[in-house]
Amino acid sequence: MPPKPRVLAVNPRNPDRTVIEEAANVLRVGGLVAFPTETVYGLGADGTNPAALKKIFEAKGRPSTNPLILHVSSPEMARLLVTHWPVNAQKLADAFWPGPLSLVLPRSNLVPDLITAGESTVAIRMPQHPVALQLISRLERPIAAPSANRSMSLSPTQAHHVVESLGAAVDLVLDAGPATVGIESSVVDLTTPVPTLLRPGWLTPAMIQQATGIIIQAKDEAQAGQIARSPGQMLRHYAPATPVSLIEPFELPPTPENTALLIIGHPNAQQMPGPTLRRLMTSPTETARDLYAQLHEWDRLGLRQIYIVPPPVRPEWDAILDRLNRAATPLGQAD
Ligand code: TXA
Ligand code: MG
Repeated sequence: MPPKPRVLAVNPRNPDRTVIEEAANVLRVGGLVAFPTETVYGLGADGTNPAALKKIFEAKGRPSTNPLILHVSSPEMARLLVTHWPVNAQKLADAFWPGPLSLVLPRSNLVPDLITAGESTVAIRMPQHPVALQLISRLERPIAAPSANRSMSLSPTQAHHVVESLGAAVDLVLDAGPATVGIESSVVDLTTPVPTLLRPGWLTPAMIQQATGIIIQAKDEAQAGQIARSPGQMLRHYAPATPVSLIEPFELPPTPENTALLIIGHPNAQQMPGPTLRRLMTSPTETARDLYAQLHEWDRLGLRQIYIVPPPVRPEWDAILDRLNRAATPLGQAD
């Protein structure tokens, strides 16, 4: 076992001010604090301190070509980080901030190069979690935070996932219990002529259009023939250590011994033959909330294989399908 970081419990609804102050102090001196958001736990550093930002990349083993999201405690703080705040940014912030939506906008010169991987844009989000919001307010600066896991592996939805993945590479972990959304934010690029979804998340383009009238195009349509704009969207990502294979409902897993079966969105497939270690998840909300925790749990058992029956191909399942396809990409295809 690697050395353990300090862990402080904190009330998710009414965070203890002394705990927030202590965490802000760690950030002020350039340390790393893992903190809860509604999506997943983030690995936070002072977003204006290049030396602290470097530690994020080292702790995660993350390539410096993959840019970071800046977390803000208000739309006003976001506006300081961009050269242009389009009408669509205001509409989306009004409708969904605080919440699981990251906006890609033209960066201002307050944003360090390490955040943007040298690009001219920056991703910003205002998270909906009292601990995250109070920590940012207390620091009075944006907090850079990727998911608090080693690069390419499963994102953490509970504090102990962070401890197991990063050990003492993080100075302090704030434990506020399980994340409520459980899957990463939707990333929307507002610098393209039509807003573009770079990473599907809990908020779907249909939900965004319904609330704001803004039409979001899928990355594929926008970028036919172009290079990927969300460099973090590498093929193998969000993967447990145990090999994952996707199977059809009622397909017989070739080797049921020492394996587990996760059936998503196909309640009638509950009776299919196969491993006795199994779980059914029925709705997108339940699956987003529990998927990573279930995979973390099975990953610890040293299984030979995790079989997953993916949900039907429908828009409300897009983010889950995206993560499952990445988790099931064999190591050889990783980039
Ligand atoms: O829910 C979330 O977004 C979580 C919590 C902690 O807020 N954070 C998270 O961060 O998932 P990370 O670093 O694991 O993923 C950030 C994603 C990556 O796919 C990255 O490539 C993309 O956002 N991204 C960041 N800055 C970008 C930019 N300027 N242009 C395009 N994509 C960007
Ligand atoms: Mg991540």
